[in-house]
Amino acid sequence: MTSNTVFDEESCYRARADFPALTRKIDGHAIAFLDGPGGTQVPKPVIDAMVDCYHNRNVNTHGNFAPSAESDEQILEARCAVADMLGAAGPEQISIGQNMTTLAFSLARAIGRTIRPGDELLVTQLDHEANRGPWQLLTEQGAVVREVPLLPTGELDYAAMKRLITEKTRLLALGCSSNSIGTVNDMRLARELTRSVGALLILDAVHYAPHFPVHVNRLDPDFLLCSAYKFYGPHVGILYSRPGALDALPTDRLIVQENVSPYRIETGTLSPAGIEGVGAAVEYLARFGRGATRMETVHAAVAAIAVYEHELGQYLWSALEGLPGVRLWGVDFSQAMRAPTVSFTVDDVDAAAIAKSLGKVGICVWDGDFYAPRPVEILNVPGKSLVRVGFSMYNTKDEAERLVQCVAAVARQK
Ligand SMILES: Cc1ncc(COP(=O)(O)O)c(C=O)c1O
Repeated sequence: MTSNTVFDEESCYRARADFPALTRKIDGHAIAFLDGPGGTQVPKPVIDAMVDCYHNRNVNTHGNFAPSAESDEQILEARCAVADMLGAAGPEQISIGQNMTTLAFSLARAIGRTIRPGDELLVTQLDHEANRGPWQLLTEQGAVVREVPLLPTGELDYAAMKRLITEKTRLLALGCSSNSIGTVNDMRLARELTRSVGALLILDAVHYAPHFPVHVNRLDPDFLLCSAYKFYGPHVGILYSRPGALDALPTDRLIVQENVSPYRIETGTLSPAGIEGVGAAVEYLARFGRGATRMETVHAAVAAIAVYEHELGQYLWSALEGLPGVRLWGVDFSQAMRAPTVSFTVDDVDAAAIAKSLGKVGICVWDGDFYAPRPVEILNVPGKSLVRVGFSMYNTKDEAERLVQCVAAVARQK
């Protein structure tokens, strides 16, 4: 990414002023939302966009009256903004849904109707269940589901992936980045291999899109899913489809529903305020970038924020690495392509107890498997439970330092 955009500590403090939730205190302690992988906080312009919709046009689409026409325009604009964020050709590539999981199930049901007994589907041992469960369900259609193994390093076994992709493979469902340990997977290799046998490539970008510019124009997946609540927007799911890909599928659809992409997988009435909020979230991110077009601007912003977040991740990794009894999981930060998500355990201390003690002083982190039980099982994580710290654009080094001090205290007391 060539860009003259910089996002530094000063930019972070400027951004922080936009997020009302960051002013909260918990028992007198400043709140530190280090739970971004679970969902980010929402800046004022996104809240304002949603409030504006409720104030002025909380109506159905395609009506012959002004608020409905305005709503149609806003929704189209939001699809265009997301298309720019994902590097897509246009709004007809962007379907909206309740969340990523629901869209993945809808997509799987549609693809399932094209599956024949003996067809092979590939999922990975690293992925969130939302990119495993919907595909595993297709065993009901006679599909055989195989898993790309996870290595003890926290990376996928690409030699095994190469062996597992055969003429029988119909699709590979791959996470771009692990929400549990931050690994970024080799999407280019996945595309090469799937293309060589005519299989579909389905990418789960839920944990990737908040931290890396997405270029569907370069990666060329058949489908890519993400969720706006992970990148400063509301709880809305997004499905990108390669031109023609969605139109080729027998989706679940009412006869009254529009039968073309992006609408043919969008069942029922969606939230207009939510969709407007998604558009506003992309616009908000674009404020931090420079470029000739919105696509360039939002990509430059995300790339610059990623550098900042990576530095925080690197700092935290090194600080925790030095603490006795603390074990870090996954690849370290010498890899540039790694999400700023740090998962650790402390010997003989329950992950939930650590999260609780951090929570008491206002530091919000998740513990558990984060709906990705397979990697913690494969990696033999004690108690199958990690403590996960995720950095977002509004996190600071001070917050990371506070966390390190608290973890050091927990580790000393054990
Ligand atoms: C990597 C990953 N995939 C999928 C999901 C599911 O997303 P949603 O909550 O939008 O269904 C999550 C949620 O945390 C996730 O982190």
